[in-house]
Amino acid sequence: MDKALEFVRRNRERYIEELSALLAIPSISSDPEHKDDMMKCSEHAVDLLKAAGIENTKIHSTDGHPVVTGDWLHAAGQPTVLIYGHLDVQPIDPIELWDTDPFTAHIKDNRLVARGSADDKGQVYMHIKTIEAILKTSGSLPVNVKFILENEEEVGSPSLPKFLKASKELLKADIIVVSDSGMLAEGKPAITYGLKGLSYLQIELTGPNRDLHSGTYGGAVANPAEILARLIAKVKDENGRIQIPGFYDKVIDLSDRERELLGKVPHSDEDYMADLGVKALWGEAGYSTNERKGARPTFEVNGIWGGFTGTGAKTVLPSKAYAKVSSRLVPDQDPSEIAQLIENFFNENAPDSVKVKVTRFHGGRPVVTPIDNEYMKAAERALQESWDHEVYYIREGGSIPVVADFKTILGLDSLLLGYALPDARTHSPNENLHLPSFYLGIESLVRCLYYFKK
Ligand code: BES
Ligand code: MN
Ligand code: MN
Repeated sequence: MDKALEFVRRNRERYIEELSALLAIPSISSDPEHKDDMMKCSEHAVDLLKAAGIENTKIHSTDGHPVVTGDWLHAAGQPTVLIYGHLDVQPIDPIELWDTDPFTAHIKDNRLVARGSADDKGQVYMHIKTIEAILKTSGSLPVNVKFILENEEEVGSPSLPKFLKASKELLKADIIVVSDSGMLAEGKPAITYGLKGLSYLQIELTGPNRDLHSGTYGGAVANPAEILARLIAKVKDENGRIQIPGFYDKVIDLSDRERELLGKVPHSDEDYMADLGVKALWGEAGYSTNERKGARPTFEVNGIWGGFTGTGAKTVLPSKAYAKVSSRLVPDQDPSEIAQLIENFFNENAPDSVKVKVTRFHGGRPVVTPIDNEYMKAAERALQESWDHEVYYIREGGSIPVVADFKTILGLDSLLLGYALPDARTHSPNENLHLPSFYLGIESLVRCLYYFKK
């Protein structure tokens, strides 16, 4: 193990170069124009896996973007670890807010800045380098390892369930390790044991059959933009409670034990507000910020538009208004049931003066994983030793839809070991990977594989 750790320390510069090449491929899964880049990225990942010593690499085509697999299975009698990650990235807009080109990685303030650096190519790369370091220094791994890398995570992993069902033997393992989340802060390692689910919808309201002169018609005809604002305002009461009937029916309340655990995770509302530039926080009454973020379901407006939004003024009463809305879910809420409840809410509350059209987008089921298994203990030890700091157990507001599918289809729990820092700006301009955490993270993954050994 020590030789592998040494190897990681000696190879830091090469890691930056290699990772930058992976980050240069604009693998934006939501944009059909980048379809070929998803294959390019998969091929690039295969080259990296092979160079690390991973065998049986394969690119599988699916109904959507390709999936990459590979393995190293020569540790007889030892557990098999399935490593999951995603190679696709979010779109780069608003491009004008990036200080440099999103696909030309560069180092600034100890961070590698590029789209995908933290979410998730950088973290996938960490696992590949873990394997390489051990195999290059000792010729064999302490446990068996399999990889599954996908290209559709940022669009809800629509092709993955079918792939998992058809590949049960290929993916057979004892535990799944996912590095697609974050640390609590610099120097403070964390294991994520909960992820939220998601229901995402678009609401379209149509009032009059055309845009109207707001003087001639205003006051006599309902304005869909105003109706939409009223409907959205109705979703929550003044205590931040969601008013959609049935919304909380399947929510598992926080146990006293869990509140106690989450209460131990250091958090300062003051620092949080300062970082975000807000003078006050807002959320569901009766819950702390950590609980609201990680363990309570939410409803958000992701975008709202309609009517005239150009420069200057135009006096118009719009025919249409739109909103993209989403709910983050916690166990045992079901994404399609919640989508139905949201749809019903808008249909039932809209006045006769407008027509409602609802379109559903991707979703995902929430997960909370058990925190008492041997793999988690091993990972805790690896993280603890690498940072010489206690490990926090956290629940995240983000979603990784495939984690719930892993449980239901493969029957496997996932161990979420994330290395992004809170200011990694994932999905935002100037996304970045904190390099000291990245280097130490690889060391922690090396330790982890050794501690997984029976
Ligand atoms: N890596 C994130 C999810 C995440 C974020 C986990 C923060 C833990 C902490 C993932 O790539 C992501 O962005 N997921 C999407 C899923 C959606 C597109 C279905 C999300 O959460 O919005
Ligand atoms: Mn991710
Ligand atoms: Mn993401």
